[in-house]
Amino acid sequence: MLNKKVKSIILAAGKGTRMKSDMPKVLHSIFNKPLLGYVIDAVNNTDCMDENYVIVGHEAEKVEDYVKANYENAKCILQSPQLGTGDAVNKATPYIKDFDGYVIVVCGDTPLITAETLQSFIEFHDNNYADLTVMSAIFENPKNYGRIIRDKNKKFVAIVEEKDATPEQKAVKEINAGIYCMTWNKICNAFNNLQNNNAQGEYYLTDIVKWAVEQNLNVQSYILENNEEIFGINSKVQLAEATKILNRKSVTRLMEEGVQIVDPDTTFISPETTIEADTLILPNVYITGKNKIGRNCKIGPFAHIRDGAVIGNNVRIGNFVEIKKSVIKDNTNVSHLSYIGDSELGSHVNIGAGTITANYNPITKVKSKTIIKDGANTGSNSVLVAPVTIEEKASIGAGSVITKNVVAYSLAITRAPLRIIKDWVSRKIEQLSGGNK
Ligand code: UD1
Ligand code: CA
Repeated sequence: MLNKKVKSIILAAGKGTRMKSDMPKVLHSIFNKPLLGYVIDAVNNTDCMDENYVIVGHEAEKVEDYVKANYENAKCILQSPQLGTGDAVNKATPYIKDFDGYVIVVCGDTPLITAETLQSFIEFHDNNYADLTVMSAIFENPKNYGRIIRDKNKKFVAIVEEKDATPEQKAVKEINAGIYCMTWNKICNAFNNLQNNNAQGEYYLTDIVKWAVEQNLNVQSYILENNEEIFGINSKVQLAEATKILNRKSVTRLMEEGVQIVDPDTTFISPETTIEADTLILPNVYITGKNKIGRNCKIGPFAHIRDGAVIGNNVRIGNFVEIKKSVIKDNTNVSHLSYIGDSELGSHVNIGAGTITANYNPITKVKSKTIIKDGANTGSNSVLVAPVTIEEKASIGAGSVITKNVVAYSLAITRAPLRIIKDWVSRKIEQLSGGNK
């Protein structure tokens, strides 16, 4: 544990032109969660995090709405126009006065950064009594990144952007990952001194390295081992690559914890889903959001679990079944072609093929709950119109539309009696062809 407070500045004002989208780049999602959410979560999951300042600019209101709705300890600060990364950080300085702690700066478009890495980065800064620490990485192809420049004694003295670099500097493979830790009362004066006399006419955050070296401050670099973590998203191709990387980590972790995944390449499971050992996941399963799945379940093939599912042990979620915000207790089967939303299913419930919980009223826009108690069952193609409760061991006849609560041990059925009308078809044919005979 550090005995310092830490604040973060998250840069998210840029346009993200290469996404070719009307939506701001940082609101593009992986597993239904915006890129910015991954970054704020990683920052918040380090020890000692106090508050976050998100620098917004392009489509600022949309980004701010997301941040406000999801994070109590984050404040948005407008940067308009966007004059560079140094100018962006400078916009936060009036909010962080007389702060005797550390400030980390991260970019809003690097969703693969982990809390563990940020934590060890901050501890490295602390252990070295550093004033400024820059995260760096070694890239075989360092193109487009700022290069870490060292003097004859290997001392880190500056960062030079690709567009300003000499051929010799371009050959350097150690790059600036764009993540910084600052002892705030030592570094906060750097931002007023930045100049924009460079190839891009911008105020570069990277120039604080040279400034700090000139002030004889303690400047360090922390070399990141797993380059993947600083992968920045600039295009939809990279968004898909990041999804794969995140998914691969998630399914690998689950398999190491004892979950059997038949085909990791066609199975997508969000990092915030936990699954217990001996559960079997068949191909083409897509699980987003936060979910808890127990032991010995069988999920898929082709199942979709959207968010907020709490599934017990020995549960079967079969093909073409969608589950949203529902609790499903032990030994219950939802085996084929069902939608279960905003529901609570007890144990030993059997949901017949094609059963639908009608949870949403599109006129009132109200979502309601369906409760199905222990041992109840629904026949194929039942529609349960919420709010509705099916009590213990009750049985729903196939094809029924249930609009009232059903008491325990009873049968509820809305079907009209079956009639088989003999020769009905032959009479019709006769009528139709009547005159021509
Ligand atoms: C930056 C670094 C570079 C580093 C790279 C790592 C500078 C000058 N260069 O370059 O050394 O290798 O990141 O990925 O900092 N932003 C704002 N306001 C602005 C400009 C940018 O909020 O006025 C935000 C962007 O939305 C983005 C982040 O800052 O999230 C980085 O900006 P970007 O233009 O992508 O910087 P790079 O050229 O990649
Ligand atoms: Ca970038």
